[in-house]
Amino acid sequence: MDIYKSLLEGNKQWAEQRLKEDPEFFINLAKGQSPQVLWIGCSDSRVPANEVTGTKPGDIFVHRNIANMAIHTDMNMLSVLDYAVNVLKVRHVIVCGHYGCGGVKAAMGNQQFGLIDNWLRNIKDVYRLHANELDAIENEDERFNRLVELNVMEQVFDLSKTSIIQNAWRERNQPYVHGWVYSLNSGRIKDLGVTFDSTTQLSSIYNITASKVSVA
Ligand code: CO
Repeated sequence: MDIYKSLLEGNKQWAEQRLKEDPEFFINLAKGQSPQVLWIGCSDSRVPANEVTGTKPGDIFVHRNIANMAIHTDMNMLSVLDYAVNVLKVRHVIVCGHYGCGGVKAAMGNQQFGLIDNWLRNIKDVYRLHANELDAIENEDERFNRLVELNVMEQVFDLSKTSIIQNAWRERNQPYVHGWVYSLNSGRIKDLGVTFDSTTQLSSIYNITASKVSVA
């Protein structure tokens, strides 16, 4: 069967199975969502947020892009973050990268790929920030793995630099911002242990005040 048709067939079977388990499943979901988690992950087809965390529809609000980036000019990411933090009031924001990430791998090299080079440049900046540590790692696979981890940590920092996150911390001491890395080889997630929940964890230059003042 063509993949296109098998998707529709798969959906039919999935919906029927859900109803078999719980006749109210879709009626309840249609009432609204109150996920406690925002997931910012890679677009890679092998890292689906719900599936790898054993969660169900309604549990996780999801944003995915190449190499799980939090770029401050990305209106898409900012809109998702604003909605998740200020409307859904999620308790946790998780940046989940993955070892073997093609975006990170591409950023480590010098080949030109096209438009995406502008996106990957942000990962090159992460490399430059941590060049001493990374250049000291002789094994290329280990250096690649470490850049994946450092890139996740920098995105946790970058989320924490936004007024969206800092205002939420000021108002409700949440969300907790976490950095995770998923292993394609084992299916397991490693918590990098970099949970952020206050501006004291940032260099003071990034702390922004509560009220907006005129820059001029
Ligand atoms: Co990836």
